[in-house]
Amino acid sequence: MARRRVAILISGRGSNMTALIEAAKAKDYPAEIVLVISNIAGAGGLAKASDAGIEIATVESKPFGKDREAFERKLHDVLVAHNIELVCLAGFLRLLTPWFVKQWEGRMLNIHPALLPSYRGLHTHERALADGVKIHGATVHFVVPEMDSGPIVMQGAVAVHDDDTPDTLALRVLGVEHRIYPDALRLVASGGTRLENGSCKTGNAGSDTALIVPAIT
Ligand code: GAR
Repeated sequence: MARRRVAILISGRGSNMTALIEAAKAKDYPAEIVLVISNIAGAGGLAKASDAGIEIATVESKPFGKDREAFERKLHDVLVAHNIELVCLAGFLRLLTPWFVKQWEGRMLNIHPALLPSYRGLHTHERALADGVKIHGATVHFVVPEMDSGPIVMQGAVAVHDDDTPDTLALRVLGVEHRIYPDALRLVASGGTRLENGSCKTGNAGSDTALIVPAIT
């Protein structure tokens, strides 16, 4: 089967982008990363993508000011010009309009550093620590107009440690992000997901292993 053509949208360092690029090197991976677009000129991830031999583009959002849709029309044109089939947001720090989301409905994924629907928005690790939760994690989901919502494709959980700071917790969650984003894209690109009444079915039972924190030994 032809590999699905994927674009990754970034605003920053692009570590999730790198995880996707690495995974897509596997011969049996059902998607190829054909384009990386940043809305910020000089974003760190652009050089990494270019070094990996991926075509890069910058569509700056700043000149468009409050006219989000005008920015998105330009972005959309670039995606269409490259025959993109699936879009992965990877640290893309722009709120998207319903118009853009509609163009990519069921074909756009995002990764969020929390176990949604908990901790939508910013500062997820700080807020999880303030609440004293024992399990935290990351979520890959289809993008819908509401921020950090939409059918969940895959989640990964980590233990929260007593002595965690937002930085140490972020690092542990990031390790999970780098595992689940490539796996979630594999699932979606290979046709292994089905959207049903606003939720995503994966036909996959997953593991029976429970993550229990703290573990009493
Ligand atoms: C990641 O932790 C991602 O989950 C988060 O930004 C970081 C980007 O890092 N995204 C969000 O908070 C979106 N709501 P990266 O550029 O190294 O992939």
